[in-house]
Amino acid sequence: MSSNEVLCETKDNVMWISINRPEKLNALNTNVRLSIIKCLKEAEANQEVRVIVIKGVGKAFSAGADINDLRALSELSEEEIIKIRKDTGVSSIGTVIRSLSKPVIALVHGYCLGGGFELIQFCDLVYATEDAIFGQPEINIGIIPGGGGTQNLPRLIGEKKAKEFIFTGKRISAKEAFELGIINNIFHDLNEMENEVLKVINEIKAKSPKAIAAAKRAINITYEKPLSEGLKIERKLLAKVLKTNEAKQLMDSFIKKSK
Ligand code: COA
Repeated sequence: MSSNEVLCETKDNVMWISINRPEKLNALNTNVRLSIIKCLKEAEANQEVRVIVIKGVGKAFSAGADINDLRALSELSEEEIIKIRKDTGVSSIGTVIRSLSKPVIALVHGYCLGGGFELIQFCDLVYATEDAIFGQPEINIGIIPGGGGTQNLPRLIGEKKAKEFIFTGKRISAKEAFELGIINNIFHDLNEMENEVLKVINEIKAKSPKAIAAAKRAINITYEKPLSEGLKIERKLLAKVLKTNEAKQLMDSFIKKSK
């Protein structure tokens, strides 16, 4: 596995994961996808890491799955394709992101297409610069999004809009993505984005890690279970965080102050 296609650096309790194939607009080949998973797992295991950031080196976040890989896959049997995609596809990165107890933030600039777009759909928070361009262009090469796009996009923006995106392969600007609720905020350039997002990260870092993890888990459940079950799980998670010393101390100090 060539390690420098994904850079992974931990600083001030944040793991920065950078997709580093700028000459290919950070197209996601198997090595890149597996390396991202490796970094994410390291981040989860490292108690010092509170937040994970994923970004792209060079002109783009990512122009999607590497089409050379896809072409090679097309020569395999359907069973082999399904197995390989299950173990190494963008949705396998997404499954890890959703399972982590720590927030994962995507910082997008330039092209964010296909698998790149699907990757950010799995992230907890997404910020972009004004020049970011989003889309699911798979239809243009005769295929469909296979990294979770057919499942996440309708949940994010509704069935009709998702079908329009996926049937036409159209691209949208950061402004449109913001209006559709796909991204949290837009910034002028990379510098401004990193500085502003660091403020959000510092706010998250100031909160209880256990409460952040419970909130992420509870919200993720809305995608996975019916409401009745989600409410049950929410109650269980609340019970768990209510019992932490941190929550007890924070509640005591609020009560003392208001007395
Ligand atoms: N897979 C493999 N290689 C890719 C790629 C991808 N998804 N996206 C870009 N690249 C490569 C190009 O082949 C090119 O390589 P080369 O210099 O060796 O020829 C390099 O990255 C730069 O891309 P290029 O197409 O020259 O840049 P551009 O600015 O003219 O166009 C895009 C940018 C994103 C519009 C165009 O590259 C594109 O359409 N990419 C495919 C997007 C896509 O369909 N993604 C979903 C795949 S399922």
